[in-house]
Amino acid sequence: MLTLNNISVEGLRHLPRERYEVASEIQHPDAILVRSADMNSMELADSLKAVGRPGVGVNNIPIATLSGRGIPVFNAPGANANAVKELVIAGIFLAARNICQAWRFVRELDAKPDALNEEIESAKKRYVGFELPGKVLGVIGLGAVGVEVSNAALSLGMKVVGFDPKITVQRAWQLSAGVEKASSLDDLFSRTDIVTVHVPLIDQTRNLVDANRLRLLGDGSVLLNFARGAIVDEDAVIGALEAGKLATYVCDFPTSGLKDHPRVIALPHLGASTREAESNCAVMVAENLREYLENGNIRHSVNFPEAILPPTEGHRLVIANANVPNMVGQITTFLAEAELNIVDLLNKSLGSLAYTIVDVDRRIPRATYKKIAGIDGVLAAREI
Ligand code: 3PG
Repeated sequence: MLTLNNISVEGLRHLPRERYEVASEIQHPDAILVRSADMNSMELADSLKAVGRPGVGVNNIPIATLSGRGIPVFNAPGANANAVKELVIAGIFLAARNICQAWRFVRELDAKPDALNEEIESAKKRYVGFELPGKVLGVIGLGAVGVEVSNAALSLGMKVVGFDPKITVQRAWQLSAGVEKASSLDDLFSRTDIVTVHVPLIDQTRNLVDANRLRLLGDGSVLLNFARGAIVDEDAVIGALEAGKLATYVCDFPTSGLKDHPRVIALPHLGASTREAESNCAVMVAENLREYLENGNIRHSVNFPEAILPPTEGHRLVIANANVPNMVGQITTFLAEAELNIVDLLNKSLGSLAYTIVDVDRRIPRATYKKIAGIDGVLAAREI
């Protein structure tokens, strides 16, 4: 297994040495473990069967190419949500109380010891902040992180307005009933004091926070971005800071244009960087990768359907195929021609992809395997 970033040792313990070689240089890896390293222009080895992302965002992974080769990508939804929530809440406090600016002021104080106190007392009026109860937080995206942030903000006495037209039933159950629903993004921007984004970076969310939406905010608002830098139009944010629409931009994605701005608090992509989150994510992904490599079962993949068939006594064949008619028919016909008896079978689909697990009573002859792998629409086949 090839690692492209440091992966928590707790996770690696789930890939025992007697079965897995895990290293940062492997020529023919069965799987890749990656955090934020950019795989988009990477050459992918023919041996590759799976990609594990111990985290949530997958914009650094060439999902379409991998899907076309029948390779599932596993991530760790929710496993780092608490870590991100804690940093978002910390970001709200940093902005509300001008903590970073005040801290910088103290560090740069050059007064003599006896004059220090006087200078501090006279300057502190520059750093007067605001309290959170009654302030309105707008949460864009109510996935695992957005829900946690919303519920925590409510418990701090804030009012919370959320927007997510695709909220899942599970997240809706987790969301506190006190969260109000915004009818649109513009509605959310026009009635919030603080906005935080928690959506993945995809074509539809690029520059989702733009100049038009920032104009809807009241003067002195706060924007937080712990999702992905490109969700926010950087020039629009700088314009809104200069115009006084935004008092502070707190983000986890510094750029050369943002990092030195006096009212930008930029952190080095630390949202999920806690020992607990790194371990939770790595354990979840290592277990799911192992389950896929050893039993062909798919859990928490971003591009393939959930497919879990308890292992039987039989011989297992797993097939990634296009979601088109007659795939299972063709597969089972070739198995029947070889007089193999099917012990169990599962076929699931997600969008344009489908996945089939077949357990048969005997080893599959090489010629039969080749016929199945050669069916038009079969993207990958593997005998386990
Ligand atoms: C994520 O997408 O899960 C977070 O941005 C964390 O990324 P990281 O694993 O590179 O810290």
